[in-house]
Amino acid sequence: RGFRQCPDYPLPYAFGTWPKTYSYAGSFPEGFVWGVGTAAYQVEGAYNEDGRGASIWDTFTGANTLGMPGANCSYCCQSAPCTPNKNMVGKGATGNVATNSYHMFRTDIALMKSMGLKHYRFSISWPRIFPTGSATGEPNPEAVKWYDTFIDELLAAGMEPYVTLYHWDLPQALLSPPELGAWWARDKDGKPVGQILPNWKHYVDTCFRLFGDRVKVWVTFNEAWSCTKLASGSGKAPGIPPFMNPAVDPYIAGHNILNAHAAAVDIYRRKYQTSQKGRIGITNNQDWREPKTDSVEDVAAAERAVLFQLGWFSEPIFGAGDYPQEMKDIFAALGTALPEFSEAEKALLKGSADFFGLNHYGTGWFAATKEPGWDMTYGTSSEEGFVQGQSTWLYGAGWGLRKLLNWVKRRYNNPEIYVTESGWSVAAQTAEEAANDTQRVMYFANYTSEVLSAILEDGVDVRGYFAWSLLDNFEWEMGYPIRFGTTFVDYDLGLDPNAPLPNSQVPTPGFQLRRR
Ligand code: NOJ
Repeated sequence: RGFRQCPDYPLPYAFGTWPKTYSYAGSFPEGFVWGVGTAAYQVEGAYNEDGRGASIWDTFTGANTLGMPGANCSYCCQSAPCTPNKNMVGKGATGNVATNSYHMFRTDIALMKSMGLKHYRFSISWPRIFPTGSATGEPNPEAVKWYDTFIDELLAAGMEPYVTLYHWDLPQALLSPPELGAWWARDKDGKPVGQILPNWKHYVDTCFRLFGDRVKVWVTFNEAWSCTKLASGSGKAPGIPPFMNPAVDPYIAGHNILNAHAAAVDIYRRKYQTSQKGRIGITNNQDWREPKTDSVEDVAAAERAVLFQLGWFSEPIFGAGDYPQEMKDIFAALGTALPEFSEAEKALLKGSADFFGLNHYGTGWFAATKEPGWDMTYGTSSEEGFVQGQSTWLYGAGWGLRKLLNWVKRRYNNPEIYVTESGWSVAAQTAEEAANDTQRVMYFANYTSEVLSAILEDGVDVRGYFAWSLLDNFEWEMGYPIRFGTTFVDYDLGLDPNAPLPNSQVPTPGFQLRRR
């Protein structure tokens, strides 16, 4: 097609297609962790049960007028009563029921057991534990009881929990007044202030204290870049109020989130790690950006693309305790200097992770531009020639993951990496389509074979791979039509789960039907 292939790893298959056959170069190391993941708001449902408070996602989706503690719609549509957020793409979709996992968790556990899984990544809902995000006092006992039961039953079924503390469902009460709230809080000089820190610390401390006897792997934040930068200014997701200025506000929020991460790790290490013997880290995300041409400019721009996203949130933790120098320089030159860490904050950040959590979905080209652009990289992405998933942003080539793993190895001195998310969305409106998720099967085969090559041939220390997701679920601003599930969720097709599967092009032994 005239586009660059990947010169470092000649492909045994045509570019822009999935390979048809695989020969794995060996086997995954003993103890390699295979799992699937979900997040509370995307699957739990039961949004107004057992004392759960409102989260900013209830606000975005227009559900928080229904009397949940902490509901205070001060920004989504600026009107009372609240109407569903006009900016949402999947208009009308909410997480009110989602996949109903709050009630169907035993079905989920049985499903994972039937798939032979031993590791499950899920998130705890902050507004369930503290409905208004309170910085003091006891947690909501019903929520504690639910997570206790869930964790106990998961362990009893032979599965290990990997628990994320923040997967975007911020208690709404903490974002009020919105201009000064939560991660986005800053002082009169525009400097970030951690006014949310007491609330966050109380929440994470409570989780460690109550669940840490059984939870041995903690992830503080999921995709700090996505919940600060991704949709800033557009007001449609994920977890970002609409008034944000993409050149400034995400960097305030990112700063507060990094400090909050370090504070959580500090609490865990000082009070719990020795007795509970668990591990703690953070998960950040990056799609691979391959230079569009061999030009020095494109190569440098592609490097900036990774540095200004993954590096933004990794350099302070796995590098020197501060933002990447190149990022600092460019921001300063543009007159929007990045916030500065104090020496004490740097010391707390540096080394504040026991492993490197990495979410990765796809790959695209990156080329240099004359303007700084939305992400300030002086570059722009395109996806010509790559295989496309259902999501508008999802293009794939497994070698992109291999290159990204090598980037992390090089830059951060070969840390232990867990791929905490990786997945492929496939449309399915009929039983036929649901059974024929061939593209997803090929994605996983291709991507996991590249992980294996990274381990065996490149010496990258990859310890685990979690497919996103256990189930189709609430895909943030797109709602339910976008399906990432390794299990198909029958929201409204009314398919018969006992009926023979329609003919599929390839055997799909993983095909499962789950109602809600
Ligand atoms: C990353 C997010 O962590 C997850 O919540 C989301 O559903 C997937 N990407 C797919 O978009």
